[in-house]
Amino acid sequence: MSDQSTLESLELPEQKDPSMSELSDGWHYILDSNELEKSKAVEVPNFATQIVVWRGLDGQVYALDMYCKHMGASLGCGKVDENGIRCPFHAWRWDGSGNCDDIPYAKRIPDKAKTRSWNTHEKDGKIYIWFHRTQQEPNFESI
Ligand code: FES
Repeated sequence: MSDQSTLESLELPEQKDPSMSELSDGWHYILDSNELEKSKAVEVPNFATQIVVWRGLDGQVYALDMYCKHMGASLGCGKVDENGIRCPFHAWRWDGSGNCDDIPYAKRIPDKAKTRSWNTHEKDGKIYIWFHRTQQEPNFESI
């Protein structure tokens, strides 16, 4: 293994840049409602960027950028916890609005612990996500 490939393997995953997407602004169908069981996280392909969706205990559908803003784990492998999703790596819990609301081993949550959330809508057995090119990612630098 070369030094270069070793370095590449340590890089964190990158979200696709939604502003580069060819999707038009508006609501986009992503899943049938019956594909999203309560308390299950699903990775969504074919969207403007990589996202994870889940159905909370309240029955609502939530969507966030896929990769955890802490150290890049896939929230698609996360565990739904009440109405949030808990990262599989260090167990930070993210609520549906993109705020980290629990870190099991910390007394304080960093102010910058925010990720991008996506508006969802469920109607007639289908789930939609709102996409708009100007939707900004929270100002985030490493925590
Ligand atoms: S990578 Fe998600 S909590 Fe650390």
